[in-house]
Amino acid sequence: MLESLGRIQNPLVRSLVAGVTVGSTVTMAAAIILGMTNAKENTAYRAALYAALAGAGSGAILGLLYPAKGNQPSTSTQLQGRTQRSSNESWKDWRNFVVIRKVKESEEITSFYLQPEDGRDLPNFQPGQFLTIKLDIPGQAKPVVRTYSLSDYAEPCTHYRLSIKREPMPAGTNFMPGLVSNFMHDHVQEGSVISAKPPSGKFVLDVQKTLPAVLISNGVGITPMMSMAKAATLRNPQRSIWFVHGARDGQFHAFRDEVTAVAQRNPNLRLHFAYSRPQPEDRGHYHSTGYVDTALIRALVQQDAEYFLCGSPAFMQSLREGLKAAGVPDSQVFFEAFTKGISTGNISTRAEAAIPTHSNGAGKRAEIVFAQSDTTATWRPDDGSLLEFAEANDLNPPYSCRQGICGTCVCRILEGEVEYQETPVAAVDDDSVLICISTPKTARVVLDL
Ligand SMILES: Cc1cc2nc3c(=O)[nH]c(=O)nc-3n(C[C@H](O)[C@H](O)[C@H](O)COP(=O)(O)OP(=O)(O)OC[C@H]3O[C@@H](n4cnc5c(N)ncnc54)[C@H](O)[C@@H]3O)c2cc1C
Ligand code: FES
Repeated sequence: MLESLGRIQNPLVRSLVAGVTVGSTVTMAAAIILGMTNAKENTAYRAALYAALAGAGSGAILGLLYPAKGNQPSTSTQLQGRTQRSSNESWKDWRNFVVIRKVKESEEITSFYLQPEDGRDLPNFQPGQFLTIKLDIPGQAKPVVRTYSLSDYAEPCTHYRLSIKREPMPAGTNFMPGLVSNFMHDHVQEGSVISAKPPSGKFVLDVQKTLPAVLISNGVGITPMMSMAKAATLRNPQRSIWFVHGARDGQFHAFRDEVTAVAQRNPNLRLHFAYSRPQPEDRGHYHSTGYVDTALIRALVQQDAEYFLCGSPAFMQSLREGLKAAGVPDSQVFFEAFTKGISTGNISTRAEAAIPTHSNGAGKRAEIVFAQSDTTATWRPDDGSLLEFAEANDLNPPYSCRQGICGTCVCRILEGEVEYQETPVAAVDDDSVLICISTPKTARVVLDL
């Protein structure tokens, strides 16, 4: 019965059908029981009537609350556990999420499916956005914060999925392996609880556009492309989308079957997988041997398009230079870096423009005005970045990577100048600064915070 009920989309009709069905079943059961007992006619009549009403009432409520099917996630993202409704309402600060499913996607990447612990609605997000998570890791003095792209997309939004690459110790060094990625792989299991901020980020695909979109990734850079490809095919199936991905071989290629299944249902989504070191068993599962480069992209895409890039720093640098040389305007190239590594000379012009020229020496003290919060305080070099200084003054500005990569901490600067301790990777408008990597340069700085 529940199966058939789920197929009825209108909640009132669902409630009526469930009410009549449960009501008649209970009435029949009551009649049989009363027939077997020797209940007096009046008592029997009343008992049967009450049973019928109770049955119909509870059936109607069940029908109202039981969710309709039809928009559930695809087989690959089918979830166990409770059903989650989606909404447009976001939340503030941190919210607890339960890991309801953990799936190995490739040699290096594992996915974590999350649902809110409070069981309340889950807002959808713009394809390409990321989630900021916070973990208590034994041995760490304070919670550790990292950002991970949302790698799935469904309507309604029943869950969030993060797909995390295990970061090993960098070759030829004795540095520690990646803290959070290894903790997630080794210690976070189904049932674990993780805190997360609302989805955020500006590396997003506008699904309403009609201009063809070319999604180009390598390695774990595939994660935002998955949500973009799925959202585009779901919400604007007429749009031409190229999904070009580079991997070492099939063992290191996450989501191959998942994206292939999406493309089989949507002829406007075209795939190209380039393997740099294909194995014999990969035959038939990839399209070319070698790396994804501008020559390959130009051979595949011979029309005006917008380009989305995510992958290793060297990969993005070479593609951005190649696309520029091929005459693609900057306004049609979007990129997201997961780590630093793009050399200063090649970061986006908007980020370059945001780096202030050096002053005649940073003062040892500066007056910082947090305009919105009506707070003024004196900064000294020991206070660290403007983000740390804001936090020390009981402000709670948004942040994620704290490294100048994600752009979450961007803040308008109303007066004065700052200087960056590191070159920003995130693109920043001229009137704004990334407070996570900047300190005051002038004696007075007014921030719109
Ligand atoms: C917008 C955005 C989206 C992202 N999306 C994803 C995603 O979808 N999937 C994903 O896997 N990642 C994603 N990332 C990257 C992610 O946020 C983390 O940076 C990544 O998981 C590494 O974190 P970690 O704690 O494991 O490594 P960390 O502990 O931060 O270390 C990073 C690297 O530095 C090395 N290292 C350690 N110590 C040193 C040292 N002293 N000097 C130099 N190097 C050292 C480590 O071995 C490791 O390789 C995203 C990042 C951003 C900014
Ligand atoms: S927090 Fe990511 S750029 Fe500042």
